[in-house]
Order: sequence, then C-alpha cells, then structure tokens
Amino acid sequence: MAIAPTGYPQLDALLPRLEAIPSLDAGGLHAERIAVLGRKQGALTFALRALPTFTPDERKRFGAEANRLKEAFEAAFAAREAELAAAGAGAGRAALDLSMPGRGRWIGALHPVTKVVDEIVGIFRELGFAVAVGPEAETEWYNFGALNFPADHPALDMHDTLYLSGGREDGQTGSGDEGRLLLRTHTSPVQIRVMQAGPPPYRVVIPGMVYRNDPWDASHAPAFAQIEGLAVDEGIGLVDLKATLTHFARRFFAPATKVRFRPSYFPFTEPSGELDVECQICHGSGCPACKQTGWMELLGCGMVHPKVLENCGVDAERYTGWAFGLGPGRTAQQRYGIPDIRLLYGGDMRFLRQTAGQEPA
Ligand code: FA5
Repeated sequence: MAIAPTGYPQLDALLPRLEAIPSLDAGGLHAERIAVLGRKQGALTFALRALPTFTPDERKRFGAEANRLKEAFEAAFAAREAELAAAGAGAGRAALDLSMPGRGRWIGALHPVTKVVDEIVGIFRELGFAVAVGPEAETEWYNFGALNFPADHPALDMHDTLYLSGGREDGQTGSGDEGRLLLRTHTSPVQIRVMQAGPPPYRVVIPGMVYRNDPWDASHAPAFAQIEGLAVDEGIGLVDLKATLTHFARRFFAPATKVRFRPSYFPFTEPSGELDVECQICHGSGCPACKQTGWMELLGCGMVHPKVLENCGVDAERYTGWAFGLGPGRTAQQRYGIPDIRLLYGGDMRFLRQTAGQEPA
C-alpha cells in the first residue's frame, strides 16, 4: 500500500514499513502495530515529538502529513488483519506453519478378491461373455427348486442355509412355487433369472456374494464371493466346456499350467465335474497347501441339466449348454499363496495394506 512521500525525512523513513505490512503474519502484525502506532514507544508517535520545534505554519503542514501517514498505517493494518482472518489464520488460531509435515493419507485400493473377480470377468469378456447380477436374498425356488434340487436335499437344511423370515413356511419348492426366503447359497439362481429374462443364446458370467452356514475356518467363510458362468446355444457340447475352462485357467495362471477334469455331482448339471489346476505353490510336487496332491480345486462345472432348461422355458431338445461356479476367495489364495481365507474376509487393515502394496500410514 504505497502513498506519496510526505517530504519530511522522519516520516518518510516509515514508508518501507508501511509497504511491508501485507506480508506480515498474525504475530508480526500485532507487534508492528504497537511498534508504529503505540502511544508511548510507537515510531510515529516518536516522530511527532518534533512538532513543537516547527513554526506554526510548518506545524500545520507537518501535522497534516503525519495524520495522512497514520491513516495509511491504520488502513494497512486493518486490511492485513481481515486478510489473515479470512485465511483462517486470524485471531485465536495459530498462524499457518508451512514447515509442518503433512498428515499420512490412506490411498484406496481394490480388495484382492475384487481384483481376482475383475480379472476373471475380464477374461470371459474377451470371449464374448456379458456380466449379469441377481439378488442376494432369494427364494427356495430360485436357489434350489429351479436348479433341480429335490425338496429333501440336505443343502436345504437349516444347518447349511441361512433362512430369512417371510416367504412360505412349509418348505415347498415345487415348480412355480417361490418357497421360503433365504440368503442365496450360490450364484447359480442367477442362471435361472438370466434364462427367464429372454430367449437363448446366453453367454454370461455372474459375480456376487453368497452365504452359507459354514464354519469360519482356514478354507471356509460364511459370506464369500462366487462367479458363475453360463453358456447356452445350439450345438454346445462338453468339448466347449473343457476348451473354454482350460483356456480360462491358463490365461489366469500361466500358459503352461496343467489342468485336469474330475467327475463330480451337482443336481443342476449332467454330467458334472470339477476342474483342478496344478498347485501354483509346489508346481505339482506336493506341499501342505495342496495337501501333498500336487493339484488345487478351481471350480465346479457341468452340462446344464435338461430339467433346468425346461424350468426356464428353454427348449432342451434344441439347446444345450454348460455352466461353472468358482470361489474367487479360494482362487485369490492360490494366486497369492494366502494360507487362510479369514485373512481375505476378516477386514484386517494390516493385511489389506500389504496386498495393496502400501506401507502402514
Ligand atoms: C457350487 O456352489 C455350485 N453352484 C457351482 C457350480 C455352478 C457347479 C455351475 C456346476 C455348475 P460349490 O459348493 O462346490 O459349488 O462351491 C463352488 C466354489 O465356492 C468352491 O469351489 C469354492 O471355491 C467356493 N466355496 C464353497 N464354500 C465356500 C466357503 N464356505 N468359503 C469360501 N469359498 C467357498
């Protein structure tokens, strides 16, 4: 804030201090106000002491210049004070200290299971599969009945399935009957919803959370992720299933990864199988992670049972298809060598920060 010189050296000597006011901090501003305008020791007050030595005319002129300078100082102090208050460094708060170290920030990262889900979905997208999702609260009909589970199948037991209140209490799961409400135990009911939504062909992958009354141990979680796959069209056979899933396993792990199919049983596929991959930790020689077998189970699969197609109004004489279901939590364990699934689903930030490649804050 510049003003014209007064012509009096004792007053003009204060002009550089007037110009310095805009760069003062709150503490400096307070001290400078006293140092310039203070009634006893202030520099301007001191300069005015020369007043009696002037002639009456000079005194008038000097007084007017001194007053002009005083007003300029007061205006400059007030302006700087308002500026500091607006910046939050005003009265009652410490001045901004730019030398203070910054606070550590948490950088968001994807959960390892989410990364595996995204990667698997990406591989199937390359093969022309779309993504579908469905509800986690399901009816017995979608979760079991439409998938060809008999009403007395042990999976329907309260020991295995988490039932919700509402829905039918008599446990009936016959065709068209929605049955009791439950937390879905697998992503397979979304196969039914996809097939009901429109005519074939279908090529979908279905990621989502599922719930089971399972023990919370090294390889089981009560709430865990699954990915379902479904391909239905004219002329689809077991060779398509084997070729597609072998391609998937080798894309996901390594191009030379050995795979094997074993027979298995699911009510909604016939024939049914399980796909194992060579243990990614010992590469087939046997280790505690693969229980010395050299193999790790990757997924369950099979040709879609004709009853399931018919339950969805799909002509089973004309169309055939295959399906699979895998647990990305267990796949993440295999991929990253994680010995206990509770680390993945336990929500412990110390573990999650390591997988995100971050040091603790
Ligand atoms: C099923 O859930 C079938 N719906 C899969 C399927 C779909 C077969 C389509 C055929 C055609 P299963 O119960 O085996 O199958 O579970 C599939 C995968 O979920 C398992 O391989 C495993 O990786 C994972 N899984 C099962 N139970 C748990 C659990 N408690 N905690 C973590 N992962 C689990």
